[in-house]
Amino acid sequence: MSTTFQLDTATSRAHPTPAPMKRLTVPAIRQRKVGGTTAEPIVMLTAYTARQAQLLDAHCDILLVGDSLGQVIYGLPSSVPVTLEMMAAHGAAVVRGSYHSVVIVDMPFGAYEASPQAAFEAAARLLKDTGCAGVKLEGGEAMAETVAFLTRRGIPVMGHVGLTPQAVNVLGGYNARGRSDAEADKIVSDARALAEAGAFAIVVEGVVEPIAIAVQQAVPCPVIGIGGSAKCDGQVLVTEDMLGMFERVPRFVKRYEEIADTITGAVERYAAEVRHRSFPGAEHTYQPKK
Ligand code: KIV
Repeated sequence: MSTTFQLDTATSRAHPTPAPMKRLTVPAIRQRKVGGTTAEPIVMLTAYTARQAQLLDAHCDILLVGDSLGQVIYGLPSSVPVTLEMMAAHGAAVVRGSYHSVVIVDMPFGAYEASPQAAFEAAARLLKDTGCAGVKLEGGEAMAETVAFLTRRGIPVMGHVGLTPQAVNVLGGYNARGRSDAEADKIVSDARALAEAGAFAIVVEGVVEPIAIAVQQAVPCPVIGIGGSAKCDGQVLVTEDMLGMFERVPRFVKRYEEIADTITGAVERYAAEVRHRSFPGAEHTYQPKK
């Protein structure tokens, strides 16, 4: 489906044509999984800007404003330096650019770990400033109390277990998790603790496939895989990865396009035309009215 947008400059809202679908809700996502199975897998992609959200919205169930924006947008070495201000600005842009998908915003490192109260303040700010429907935070059992605290106070929480990139300094890198029995058991018990605390969905990232399947079976809420298994209740990828924006991508990324080549080709042609003075042509210049 192709959608066009008109920007209302008074409100910054982009009005789509044709008329948008009704926005999905967190309970609707949670209820996709019935009796341990999800008949219609959940489609989730990251989005960081309004225009990107406009293009993804009709095709996704959830748009995640991931803290991966630290690396993807800001060129940071990891997601650790990402701030609440960055997440709020990009979250608001994605909500403005979408009408259909549930928008979930990542809680950045340092904004929620100290206490449930600190997490509530950060999450409430994200909901107020962006209009998003919920937040995602990383960590298992250690975060269960916080997940329960937020959920009971009106903030839907998506959990994130397995490879948790904010913990890169503890994990020592971004390798797949769950290769030892102890690590595998911990990932499953982390997911159980989050689900019992009220998480409406859980991302399982970068784990050996049997662990992703075990997590999917262990919890009643939807489990969304990234580097997990096709048997998860849904999938998420970083949009720039699946579009081929970067040269190196992890094994679990399927490249659906080679957008970096498209951009490079277009810029090469533009640069050549500027240097030959063949751009702008007559059709791109304003002439005095006769
Ligand atoms: O930050 C992010 O983009 C994420 C996804 C990879 C799940 O957490």
